[in-house]
Amino acid sequence: MKCRSCRGPAVIDLPRHNANFCGEHLVAFCREQVRRAIAEFEMLEEGDRVLVAVSGGKDSLALWDILDHLGYETTGLYIGLGIGDYSEDSAEFVRHFARERGAELLEVDLASRHGYDIPGAAQRTKRTPCSACGLSKRHIFDREALAGGHAAVATGHNLDDEAAVLFGNVLRWQLDYLARQRPVLPARDGLPRKVKPLVRLTERETAAYCIVSGIDYQVEECPMSAGNKHIGYKEALNDIEATSPGSKADFYLSFQRRAVQHFEQLGATAREALRTCTSCGAPSPSDTCAFCRLESMAGQPVELRSERTAIGDHATTTTGTMDET
Ligand code: AMP
Ligand code: FES
Ligand code: ZN
Ligand code: ZN
Repeated sequence: MKCRSCRGPAVIDLPRHNANFCGEHLVAFCREQVRRAIAEFEMLEEGDRVLVAVSGGKDSLALWDILDHLGYETTGLYIGLGIGDYSEDSAEFVRHFARERGAELLEVDLASRHGYDIPGAAQRTKRTPCSACGLSKRHIFDREALAGGHAAVATGHNLDDEAAVLFGNVLRWQLDYLARQRPVLPARDGLPRKVKPLVRLTERETAAYCIVSGIDYQVEECPMSAGNKHIGYKEALNDIEATSPGSKADFYLSFQRRAVQHFEQLGATAREALRTCTSCGAPSPSDTCAFCRLESMAGQPVELRSERTAIGDHATTTTGTMDET
């Protein structure tokens, strides 16, 4: 197996590109895929300040590394979700990455800042862990990106993730979700721009990128992910991909190029209905946003919060303490 670029020994085969690459050219290939995704979907402008949401897994750490290499001014954002050892270990991978590069890392701890963690929230509310987790993360990404004046918040959703979500939305013809399933969502009142620069890379490719680049990452899956439907959708799409290489990318990218605009009007209608949360000021379809409702149902009284951690009620950075947002 020879590298397509240099004819040296290859470390990975990529059937959908009909190519094999050595380590050096795999790294170049991944960076080029991200550059092309950013350009095609007009995600970022040259040198933008980007808040990179990092979980400690392969995708978001690869993303942080690649955006740095492409010349963006990046800050990492890690949210402590309080999922036992899994969260503790994930935080360590992120901190190690940031320390090695002297990169700026912002940390928000759910328990000390908001008085709840994901297992507790799932127990005390009717939400599944993933739903409480997704809602909390989205709210904090938005808040911190706006507070820090970042041009955009970038997440490590890859092609496998996005194709699986698309598959689920098509299975149930969830038209409003289809309207919003874009790799870039523009900034609007109270919400920052959101981008997913890894949509042209699979998780196998981001894992290989990290291994070749010497990036240590959390390999464990979240222990609360059992029952997540997207795992099954990913397996189904992988079966199709194995017999028909390129199908996954075609399914997702052709949707973006040819179909998503047909659902746009539905998205616009949903957006017009948004008001402002009276408690936190975030855009919300009702007086109190879903995050504030979750916090009040799942959170412990403020006086108990400060006993749980020394971090206090502020987001912390490796270079100091951020002002309250
Ligand atoms: P997930 O929702 O776990 O599939 O993660 C999707 C993306 O959300 C990741 O690639 C990260 O960009 C971001 N993310 C997930 N967990 C965290 C976390 N604990 N802190 C910050 N960002 C996260
Ligand atoms: Fe859903 Fe962790 S809470 S994957
Ligand atoms: Zn090569
Ligand atoms: Zn609110």
